[in-house]
Order: sequence, then C-alpha cells, then structure tokens
Amino acid sequence: MRQAGRYMAAFRAYSDVQPFRQRSETSSTAIQLSLQPYQAFGVDAIIMFSDILTPLPAALHMQFEMRPGIGPTFPTPLRSDLSIHTLLTQCPIDSFLPTSSLPFVADTLDKLRHTHLQHDPHTALLGFVGAPFTLAAYMIEGRGSKVLSQVKRFMYADDSTSTTSDNETATPHGLHALLSHLADVIARYAIFQLDSGAHAVQLFESWAHHLSPVQFETYALPYAARIVQAVKAARPHAPVLYFANGSAGKLRLLKKALAEDADVIALDWGVGLDEARNEFGHDVVLQGNVDPAILAVGSEAAIRQAVHDTVRVGGEKLILNLGHGVMKETPEDAVRAFVDEVKKLA
Ligand code: CP3
Repeated sequence: MRQAGRYMAAFRAYSDVQPFRQRSETSSTAIQLSLQPYQAFGVDAIIMFSDILTPLPAALHMQFEMRPGIGPTFPTPLRSDLSIHTLLTQCPIDSFLPTSSLPFVADTLDKLRHTHLQHDPHTALLGFVGAPFTLAAYMIEGRGSKVLSQVKRFMYADDSTSTTSDNETATPHGLHALLSHLADVIARYAIFQLDSGAHAVQLFESWAHHLSPVQFETYALPYAARIVQAVKAARPHAPVLYFANGSAGKLRLLKKALAEDADVIALDWGVGLDEARNEFGHDVVLQGNVDPAILAVGSEAAIRQAVHDTVRVGGEKLILNLGHGVMKETPEDAVRAFVDEVKKLA
C-alpha cells in the first residue's frame, strides 16, 4: 500500500534522490521499485509502483505534488459546485485517453508482465486505482486531512441551494457530479491497466473510515460498485479486489453493494475475520488483515503467531495480507519472517 516501499533500504536509495512523481512516472524506475519486494522476500504478487492519484493530472487536469513529510498536495483544490462544474466541462470522459496520456503505466505493466514475469506463471501482477470517494476527497481537501471538513461542507449543505453562479456554494449535488465523473474515469483507467498487463486490479477506498455507514452507502459504495461492474462487464475474467479502510460497522452494506461483483473483499485489521466470515459466508474471498504494527514492533514469535491466527480464522478462501500498508519503521527481517511463515503453510 501507499507507504509500502519506505521500510526498504533499496527503496530509499531511490526515494532519497528522486521526487515521487519522477520515480512513479518513469517506467524504468517504476519497474525496478515494483520488483523490490518480490526480489527481496518472494511475495506472491507484485504491485505496480504508482499512486492512486497518478491519473488525476491526465484525466482531470488536477495537478498534485508529493511533499516529503506531508504527502500529496493539490495547489488548486475544488471547493464549490462551480469549480467542479467547470472542471468536468473541461474534461469530458472521452477526452481521457490513458494510452497517450499515461504511457509510463502501460510500459511498466507490460514489461513487468511480459519480461520480468515471463517465466514465472505463479506470481500475480496487480494494478490498482483509487475509489471515487477517496479521490474526490483528496481533490476537495487538497491534502490529507483528519476530519474532511471541506468534503463535509458539501455533504451537509442543502441541495436546493446548488448553483454554479458563485464560487462559495458547495452541495451534495456538486459532490455527486464529481463522484459520478470519477467512477467513469477510473473504470476506464482500471480497464487500461488490465489491458496493459495487470492480472487483477485493486480498488482502494482509503478514506472510508471518515464516513458514517449512511455516508458510505451514499457517497462511496455506489460509485465503487459502478467501477467494479464496468470492469467486470468489459473484462469478465480479471479479478477485481476492493479495499475499504475502516470497514467495521459497514460490512453489511459492503456485502449488499459489492459481494456479488467484486472477487475479493480486502479488510483492514479493525474487523474480526470471524465477523467478516459470518457476514460474507465461506465462498467469498477475503484479503487481510494482520495489523501492520506487528511487523513494525512485534517480536518474531508474535509475527509468526499472527500468520497462523489470521489463517485459522479467515478460513480457506483467504489471501493473507496486512490490513493496511507496511509501516515505514518496519524492519526488513520482520517482513521476511512473515513471508517465511506463510510459505510454510503452502
Ligand atoms: O510501494 C507501494 O507502496 C505500492 C504502490 C503504492 C503507492 N501508493 C506508492 C507511494 C500504492 C498502492 C499507493 C496507493 C495509495 N496512495 C493509497 C491507497 C492505499 C492506502 O494507503 O490506503 C493512498 C491513500 C495514497 C495516497 C498517498 N500517496 C499518500 C497519503 C502518500 C503519503 C504517505 C506519507 O505518509 O507520506 C502517498 C505517497 C506514496 N505513494 C509513497 C509511496 C511509496 C511514499 C512517498 C515516497 O515514496 O516518496
């Protein structure tokens, strides 16, 4: 996940000298960075080195910068129905042509799949995209936020006040327009990743923990479901994985909206896999959900035990993973022990 590389010395050898966008938008570098955990630990999947925000400059003319210590920042965030309306008018869906505007993504996936994995049929190549709510929240807040107050300004206004004639008014109507546009753009982008070589794509709803169940059902799930359905309709054999951060209290809604369409439901560690099994049944593939802090601060015995506990509770249809990204302070040996313990089960 987002911080996955930073615990590795080999990753920092790049990140200490090259800005994030250059690293992720130059395919030769992105390929090397994608391969690092696979080469170092023998994990079963390679996740392409990129970011959920990568398509936004091309698809929506939303420029961003990755500031060390701060994270993503957008110099001109969207703060009104008018600014959303103007942006969407300037960027019709059909003007987003990933092949010409994001050639480095195609090149990264193509070479990983057809050169580096050419003789390894057992390793999966994963593409990924941001889910509409999380992307919209970044575009509205302009940077990471603890409370999403700008997004909630849109949610808690009265739709009858919606107007595109001033630069102050922000309503649910404007937010829904942005989410709907993002759903179409991101579906197109996910299909492009599959066509470029990804075996599967994961959808990240990283900011779902900011939402009440009703808000999750209103602003997140319908748009994520639209992407999953569009991708499955276009490429029926490609697995689609869905991750929502903070899914505790939202499992029933998640099941209703997605369990029929998504191939894998990925869970953060705040949810018990026994509870998730009760909700989803034994046929749905779950992914997760070891607390990433175990790798950062746990003993080797605790790490090995967590593997067994998670597999036992998760049952047969489990893709063992962390419940979120590897923490920056994680020792590489902890990851090695985790993977080693998993491999003993195979
Ligand atoms: O190696 C990997 O981590 C896989 C590739 C990957 C990145 N971002 C690279 C990255 C993936 C899958 C992402 C997804 C991503 N990006 C998510 C969804 C996953 C999640 O964490 O829920 C989100 C929310 C983002 C947005 C983002 N990108 C943030 C908030 C940050 C800053 C993190 C921080 O604490 O500073 C990034 C930067 C980023 N993206 C880094 C990496 C490796 C770290 C910065 C760097 O390497 O210079």
